Amino acid sequence: MKLNHEIIEKNTGLLLILIVVSLSFATLVEIVPLIFSKDVNQPLPNMKPWTALQLEGRDIYIREGCHVCHTQMIRPLRAEVERYGPYSRAAESAWDHPFLWGSKRTGPDLARVGKRYSDDWQREHLINPQSLVPESVMPPFPWLEKRTVNGQKVQEKMRLFRDRFGLPYSDEQIEAAPDEVQGKTELDAVVAYLQQLGTAMEGQR
Ligand code: HEC
Repeated sequence: MKLNHEIIEKNTGLLLILIVVSLSFATLVEIVPLIFSKDVNQPLPNMKPWTALQLEGRDIYIREGCHVCHTQMIRPLRAEVERYGPYSRAAESAWDHPFLWGSKRTGPDLARVGKRYSDDWQREHLINPQSLVPESVMPPFPWLEKRTVNGQKVQEKMRLFRDRFGLPYSDEQIEAAPDEVQGKTELDAVVAYLQQLGTAMEGQR
């Protein structure tokens, strides 16, 4: 036995291969059961699918790279829970494709930012963050107010989310979607998206 171990320790290539094998095995043991666990991939009971406007807002959030500076993932650590609210549950992201957990917090986590500020605050903050938070390093997004939402693909997106990912959109909702976003600005859409973040956890906190 002792001899075998020496062979591994003296042979860097073999050692590396064995490290990779054992780490991969450990990773699989952690991840695979989660894929089949209902607790993780079933949405929370009071989760509502994004409205057409919120869905468009989500896409603008992705386009503008908001997720590069903001996470949507509160870790179960005391400091985070005290600052942001209850830690994120996997079920909250069941519909989020692609998920927007992010990995870097230049700005605060946004997982529970919904309803924390008024719509007016959010609008003003996106157009000119420094007018409300003078020391902010968040860039201004003034064009959001000037551009109208392009609703051409909204029905297609809703059908995709319904058929591929199980969001319970009704035919009426999809039917009404283009009218719902018609004439709305991109700013309206992003604010609508922000204001629902984390609200499904209300009452369960
Ligand atoms: C370069 C990094 C950066 C980018 C990109 C960025 N932000 Fe921020 N954001 C920040 C920082 C830093 C703060 C904290 C200071 C402040 O409130 O302005 C912040 C604060 C916020 C807040 C207030 C959060 C709170 O709990 O007080 C919201 C909401 C927000 N950002 C939304 C957005 C949205 C939406 C986008 C994309 C359109 C975006 N941010 C893009 C850095 C960024």
